[in-house]
Parts: sequence; structure tokens; C-alpha cells
Amino acid sequence: MANYLVTGACGFIGSNYVYYHLKTKPQDKIVIFDALTYAGCYETVAPLIDNNQVFFVKGDIGDLKCVTDTLERYEIDCIVNFAAESHVDRSILGPDLFIKTNIEGTYNLLKCALSYFEKRGQGHFHHISTDEVFGSLEESDPPFTEQNPFRPNSPYSASKASSDCLVRAFVHTYGLKATVTNCSNNYGPRQFPEKLIGLALTNLLEGKLVPIYGDGKQKRDWLFVDDHCLAIDLAIEKGQSGETYNIGGRECRTNLEVIENLSLTLDKIFKEHPNFIKQYPLSFAAKDESFVGKTTFVADRPGHDRRYEIDPSFSEKALGFKPQETFASGLYKTVLWYLENEAWWRALQQRRIDFSSTWAKMS
Ligand SMILES: NC(=O)c1ccc[n+]([C@@H]2O[C@H](COP(=O)([O-])OP(=O)(O)OC[C@H]3O[C@@H](n4cnc5c(N)ncnc54)[C@H](O)[C@@H]3O)[C@@H](O)[C@H]2O)c1
Repeated sequence: MANYLVTGACGFIGSNYVYYHLKTKPQDKIVIFDALTYAGCYETVAPLIDNNQVFFVKGDIGDLKCVTDTLERYEIDCIVNFAAESHVDRSILGPDLFIKTNIEGTYNLLKCALSYFEKRGQGHFHHISTDEVFGSLEESDPPFTEQNPFRPNSPYSASKASSDCLVRAFVHTYGLKATVTNCSNNYGPRQFPEKLIGLALTNLLEGKLVPIYGDGKQKRDWLFVDDHCLAIDLAIEKGQSGETYNIGGRECRTNLEVIENLSLTLDKIFKEHPNFIKQYPLSFAAKDESFVGKTTFVADRPGHDRRYEIDPSFSEKALGFKPQETFASGLYKTVLWYLENEAWWRALQQRRIDFSSTWAKMS
């Protein structure tokens, strides 16, 4: 039994991690620590909070006193750091917050962890990072391994690369026990509906076209969120301190292919469950139309990376990591979750920003 501090657990991956971890390790205690920014949703985790096994603290990872008090009060054994500003588009319009949260915030969390774990004589820090730190691949380049140099291209990826370097420095200089996972694009339930799959899905349910940046041929490696959670727990259990692990699903798709797969999944689920037509009267299915092809090309984001692809061989070998879902099965679960949780995504819609009109003005 262990006590976990999960930062950023009211966001997409952090909240899925809490649900996942409680299912697979029901004896552990979890403290959900979140600043509740635009991306944080208390309601997502509210059903889990019982103040006995699962607790909630509203706090900023940059707040030394709040973090230290929380570590001491709940006798934390392991910190899993998801807290971050995570949207590339937002980092282009407002990089300051990315520097503050992702770099200064992680630095503060590391400082608090080091002094608390030293006093306690044990403790593990796990940092969640992204494949975007490695920059963009040409079509003929091999996928990213852990040996690829950091070549971040956006304020978001630069801030994440900096935080990864800080974790490394705390391990090598001060002896903090820490691991890092660099994961590819995640998709699944509970994702704020501003990133590709959530935005496309909710647009299609409202009978709106899906905006496609540029030519739509940007390639990403997709992983179902529970498989990312599995990899994180394997890295915490079996990983070596100071090591980084690349996590991916070997499921590369262009954005256009992703939207086509998503549309076909919607067609299939509406056929299997015709009751959804009543629930979504504006959707293309309600007009007896396919969801396929309901796209519109819009101005691309500045500096849009062309291709990311992870080589997960090291984590497969060292951690025994193996994704449980294919892109098709993960997408099916994702679409069904959004269809069944309309109130959840509708409540978040007003927090979205329309970036494509900004990029059009800039181009
Ligand atoms: N989404 C992806 O596809 C993906 C892929 C690889 C890695 N990652 C990384 O995984 C992590 C989580 O990503 P996500 O998509 O769930 O993000 P998200 O934006 O959905 O959630 C971020 C959460 O962090 C909280 N937060 C922000 N600033 C905070 C602060 N200063 N103190 C405390 N909490 C704060 C927010 O309120 C929110 O709940 C990030 O570090 C991201 O870089 C994401």
C-alpha cells in the first residue's frame, strides 16, 4: 500500500490515471492536487473523492508551502506529475504561463519532493512528458528513441523539454529517485474538447464540420489513455531512477486518417445504437448522412510539426509494456464515452478558444 500525490489529476490524463490506478491497485491512497485551470474539471474526479482513500487539494505546483504541507499531511510516497499547461496552440498565444507552470512549477515540485523524501528516507518522483520534446521528423527519419536529442519547436514542447532536464539534474546532482515517461498523443474519455479528437467528435455531434489544419497530413502516434496509465505504473514499479522511457502505441496516422477513422466509428455506433439519434438531433446521423467527409481545411498553426513517431522498444523490453487497445478498439470506447457523457463535454465547451481564425489572421 502506498500514498500517491497525483498533480494535474483534474485534467485529461491525470483523471484517467486516478480511475485506472484505483482499479488496478485498490489499496493505495490518492491525493488529487490540481490548480483547476481552464483545463481542470473537479466534476471529473468528484465521484471518487471520499476523504478516506481519495482526497482533493486545490493547489498550484508552484506554491512551495501548499505542496510541502500536502506531502507531509498525507505522508506521500510517490508523486506523479501531470500538472502542466498542455495545449500547443495556447502556448503560441501565451507562452508566459507555460514557462511558469511547466518549468518553474516542476522545479518547485522537485525541490519540495527532494527535501521531503530526504527527511522521510524514501520516495519516488515520476514526471509525465511528451514526444514533442524531440521535435519534428522527416518522412524518412526513424522513430524517436530515448537517445534522440531534444529539439523542441513550440513554447509548449520547449517548456516540457526544460522540465525533463530539471528532473534529470535533480537525479544526477541531488540523488532524487525519479523516472520520466515521454509519451505520444493520447486519446480517450475525459479529454477537454479542444484537441483534435475531442473537438472533431463534439463538432460532428452538433452537425458542424471538423476544422483540419493545413493539408491534414501531419502524422502522430496515437495511444489510448489507459495504456499510457499502464506504462506510467510500470515505470514507477520497474523503472530505473534517472531513466526516461518512450511510450507509444505503434499506431501512426495522419490527422486526416484519424478523422476518417473517427467518422467511421461514429457511423458504426449510431447504427448499433439508434437511440443516440434522438439524443443528438443536430448530428449528421440524424439527417441520415454519414459522418465521413465532414471536414473543412483551415489555416495551419505557425510552426506546426510534421511528424512524431515513437519507437517504444526500450519500454517494451525494460518494463514489459504492451498496449491493451488497438486504435480501432480505443476509438470505439472513446466515442461511446462521449456519446454517453454529453453533459460533461457540454459544460466545458464555453472554455474553448477558436484558434483557426487567429492563425488565419496571422498568415
Ligand atoms: N494529452 C496528450 O496527448 C499528452 C501526451 C503526452 C504527454 N502529455 C503530458 O501529460 C500531462 C497531462 O496532459 P493532459 O493532456 O492531461 O493535460 P490537461 O491540460 O488536460 O490537464 C492539465 C491539468 O493540470 C492542471 N494544472 C495546470 N497548471 C497547474 C498548476 N500550476 N498546479 C496544479 N495543477 C495545474 C490543470 O488544472 C489540469 O487539470 C502534461 O504534462 C502533458 O505535457 C500529454
